[in-house]
Amino acid sequence: MDSIKLTKLSSCSGCGAKVGAKELSEILTGLKIKYDENLIVGFDKSDDAAVYKISDELAIVQTIDFFPPIADDPYVFGQIAAANALSDIYAMGGEPKIALNVMCIPKDMPRETVNEILRGGYDKVFEAGAVICGGHSIFDEEPKYGLTVTGFVNPNKILTNAGAETGDVLILTKPLGSGILTSAVKAELISENTLKALIKNMTSLNKTARDIMVKYNVHACTDVTGFGLMGHLSEMCLGSEKGAEIYTKNLNILPETVSFAKIGIIPEGMYRNREFAEKYVDAGDKSLYFQDILFDPQTSGGLLMAAAPEDANKLFAELYEALPGARIIGKITEIQGDKLIKLI
Ligand code: CO
Ligand code: CO
Ligand code: CO
Repeated sequence: MDSIKLTKLSSCSGCGAKVGAKELSEILTGLKIKYDENLIVGFDKSDDAAVYKISDELAIVQTIDFFPPIADDPYVFGQIAAANALSDIYAMGGEPKIALNVMCIPKDMPRETVNEILRGGYDKVFEAGAVICGGHSIFDEEPKYGLTVTGFVNPNKILTNAGAETGDVLILTKPLGSGILTSAVKAELISENTLKALIKNMTSLNKTARDIMVKYNVHACTDVTGFGLMGHLSEMCLGSEKGAEIYTKNLNILPETVSFAKIGIIPEGMYRNREFAEKYVDAGDKSLYFQDILFDPQTSGGLLMAAAPEDANKLFAELYEALPGARIIGKITEIQGDKLIKLI
């Protein structure tokens, strides 16, 4: 199977393979959960990772993420899957410490290919300053790879997707469009330069963004992944009981994304995201193809921060210097009317 492209083996790509938010809340209904006062962030608030308090200074952050190939190059796929899994620790303001591989491999996949996927994962975990200490692999027709990650965080400095305050400045640290462009890769329509930009976007760790963020007063944070910008921002608004305005002209969008969206090169996950979040969004006069980009499922997307207004300019200046893809994309407001998010 050397000649087969990895993405041809996956039914849906990257975080686009995620079960939709609506289905997820149905699946989780009625399950018995033991109450533990040290579990300070659970899955009830749709947050990125669970946080368990060990002492007044230390809590562990726990997350898992894995998905089918989103790139044809196995080394690139491994890097993206690992960067994406590590991201949920960064989104909570934590530092990744240990990780385990989660892997599904077809019986006939060449050993070198499997090794390249793992090399991608190990390299990213190394870059994150964490260590892979084992894992679990099973045979499966559709390959999948990812990590469970455990990180450390000070329990008083946890950033959840709740806690945003009116007037907070919304900053997004990576450009949008990875779901649409991944569909373009599958359709073999993407140009060499755009592919490079896409791979760089998805393989970059959110470590730098996190390390800068924790120096400033940030009230809420999440990473923008499978539910798209509108889905994750809706969750932030719901968790914080606030609204938001998005300055659409400020959004940073990967090259060619707009032209692919215009001709309907859209991943299936976009429709699931729209179904979940559309009721929260006042799209004004924004065209449908443009809205599609805001609902587009992102893989290994950037951090979305709600920064205190007095800190936002300094925080953004430092972020922008290190991460030129970062933008101020809007602000947190009171809830106005029956929609949470207003596109302006
Ligand atoms: Co997340
Ligand atoms: Co996740
Ligand atoms: Co969070």
